[in-house]
Order: sequence, then structure tokens, then C-alpha cells
Amino acid sequence: MIVARTRDELAAARKDLRGRVAVVMTMGALHEGHAALADAAREQSDSVIATIFVNPLQFGANEDLTKYPRTLESDLEILEERGVDVVFTPTPEVVYPATPVVTVSAGPLGDVFEGSSRPGHFDGVLTVVLKLLHLTQPDVALFGQKDAQQLAAIRRMVADLDVPVSVVAVPTVREPDGLALSSRNRYLSERERDTALLLSKALKTRDAVAGRALFDGAPAVLDYLERVDSTTFEAAPDGDLLVIAAKVGTTRLIDNLPLHDLSTHKDTP
Ligand code: PAF
Repeated sequence: MIVARTRDELAAARKDLRGRVAVVMTMGALHEGHAALADAAREQSDSVIATIFVNPLQFGANEDLTKYPRTLESDLEILEERGVDVVFTPTPEVVYPATPVVTVSAGPLGDVFEGSSRPGHFDGVLTVVLKLLHLTQPDVALFGQKDAQQLAAIRRMVADLDVPVSVVAVPTVREPDGLALSSRNRYLSERERDTALLLSKALKTRDAVAGRALFDGAPAVLDYLERVDSTTFEAAPDGDLLVIAAKVGTTRLIDNLPLHDLSTHKDTP
């Protein structure tokens, strides 16, 4: 596995990759969910590039970028085990040699649900995703269904800006009790982890009203539990996706459940 830290190292490694190339973008702190992305990439392509970059542009002023978990050594081990060919681990200076003046706007998708509590977050995500697509030149890019709004925004960017890449969604990986894997789960105490199960339990009701009731008197603050259209993230009574966000202690967690087309979504909390 080649570890590229600069643009030149990445370009040299990319030139040697043959066949269909897949990219898996991460911010590190890898867990089984990321491993599933790498496995799916391996299955669907001849060569796999993974990126590890904690993107400052997608962190809000009140979000502590320096506190984001950084576990590079074990991340590289996981990626090597999964048969990744090239890992791009740039510094912020490599990705942003100058403060970007032109950035990608997520439009209305960036203002609702996760976007309303994290203003500018999806603009930052789309900007770095587009840059990393340009730098890695993949045929296919894989993203987790867990971050459904991010996935919708990336799909929309790829369609609206004619980006020549196929976007593939990989189902959420869950613990046996239903908890969706997330880098943030490491912040939960044992007690909070129990409380966090409320998210997947609420989704399991497949009904926003019944799901919300589970939070009555619970030691968690529900932000939203809504049925939405998975492409626009507009609330819709017959929407195909149930989305949830809640704060457990100081940790904000998100999860979702596709409601239609269950044959293509193996995701059941
Ligand atoms: O999902 C993530 O880890 C990040 O938002 C991504 C797609 C790597 C962009 O920084």
C-alpha cells in the first residue's frame, strides 16, 4: 500500500493504478463502517484509493476541529488489511494551498436538518469532495448511507456539475443491538451508549410520531425525527427515508432508515 502525502506523490501513485479505480473518502478514526466501504470498493473495482483528511472547511466556528479523533497508525493498518492500494493523507496546506475563494454551495440541501444545526457544513463537505475527486480521478466514489444528507448533496453536486464519477451508497453498519457505527460513538459513556439505542429503536417503529414518543422523559434531546424525500431532504409524509438526530450527553448522533425499495437496502436497525 502506498501512502501519499503530497499532490505529486498521489499523482505518481494514481498513474500506476490500472482498470476501474474507486475512491473512499474518510476523515480517519476508522471503524467497521469505513472497512465496509473499502470492502465494497474492492469488490466493485480493480484499484482502490482511500483518503484520510480532517477537512477544516466543514467544521463550524463552535465545533472543535482540534478535538476530532486522529488515529492514523491504526487507520493505515485497517486500510492495508482491506487491500487498499493507495492512501492519500494530506495536510490542510496540501489540500488548501490558499484559502479558497470559490467554493461549492449545497443550495437548499445545505440549509435543512443537519445543515440547519451546522451552517456551512455541507458547502465545506462538497468543496473538499470535489477537490478530492479531481485529485484522485476515480471512476467510482463510495459513501456511507449513514450520512444520508451528505450522500444526497454529493449526488446532487455530481449531477448538477457533470462530475464524471459514479456515486455508490454503502448500507450503514450496525452493532448487533442496532447502534449505527460512528466515529462519535467513542465519546459515549456506557450509560450514554444505552441511551443512544433510542435512535435505532425510534427508526424501527418506521413512524415519526411513534418514534418521537420514545424520547418522552428520556435522557436524550431529540433534534428531529422526520420522513423525508431522500434526494431533496424535503419533509414528505410519503418520503422514502426516516431521518433522526439526537443529542446524548454532549454527543450529537444521526441515523436514518430507508423505507422503500428494501430489496436494495439491507439496512434494518
Ligand atoms: O463523511 C466524511 O467522513 C466526510 O464528510 C468526507 C466525505 C470525507 C468529506 O470530508
